[in-house]
Amino acid sequence: MRTPLIAGNWKMNGSVERVRAFGEAFAGADFSAAVEVAVIPPFPYLPAAAQAFAGTPLALGAQTFNPLPAGAHTGEVNAAMLVEFGVSYVLVGHSERRQHYGETNADVCQRVCAALGAGLIPVLCVGETLDERNAGATRDVVLGQVAAVMQHLEASQRERLVIAYEPVWAIGTGVTATPAEAQATMGEIRTWLATLDNALAETLRLLYGGSMKASNAAELLAQPDIDGGLVGGASLQIDDFFAICQSAG
Ligand code: 13P
Repeated sequence: MRTPLIAGNWKMNGSVERVRAFGEAFAGADFSAAVEVAVIPPFPYLPAAAQAFAGTPLALGAQTFNPLPAGAHTGEVNAAMLVEFGVSYVLVGHSERRQHYGETNADVCQRVCAALGAGLIPVLCVGETLDERNAGATRDVVLGQVAAVMQHLEASQRERLVIAYEPVWAIGTGVTATPAEAQATMGEIRTWLATLDNALAETLRLLYGGSMKASNAAELLAQPDIDGGLVGGASLQIDDFFAICQSAG
């Protein structure tokens, strides 16, 4: 069975105080083995978060990284640095990175390989824009983004991935895909994965992201192909994030 994963992507938000507060609030949380939870703060908070989350159910994630090993790359952070600070998950190909920082499918693929090589779990983010959806291209865009990475990986690498389906039109807009809309596309992803490998399709976790909140998480998570959530805005508030984690457990 697939263990649900709820990951909170703080994007460019947060503070040392918020990191501490999350550590304290989740210290007594007992989600048992029924759900995995990760918080993904900006880089500077990783060391404080690693400390604050020790002994809690919170795993640590990073929002991006540079796939090169080391060297003269001012401002960049590599995978080994993330590992050194206890990071387990790393987002790759978030639509904000694709849209605003020009990351292509080829860049995304390179990052997925580098993350796997460093022992990190890549959370591969895919999703269509509103124009693409209106043009009836959702399936082609999303499966194209998945295939662009999967076709370059060995079977043993593929099974370590998590895929997050985040329709771009639902991110930060308050407009959530209906459970049926999300399920339709995520079902397509799993069906496509089965054409590669049935066992992979059975075990790989698919997360939904895009205005997931405490009030809609349960019905999204009840869909057969939704194994968790990648939560933006609602992951900044302890009570909201906690409630989403509970609805997955
Ligand atoms: P929101 O939950 O704020 O829509 O953000 C979703 C997201 O982009 C998570 O990566």
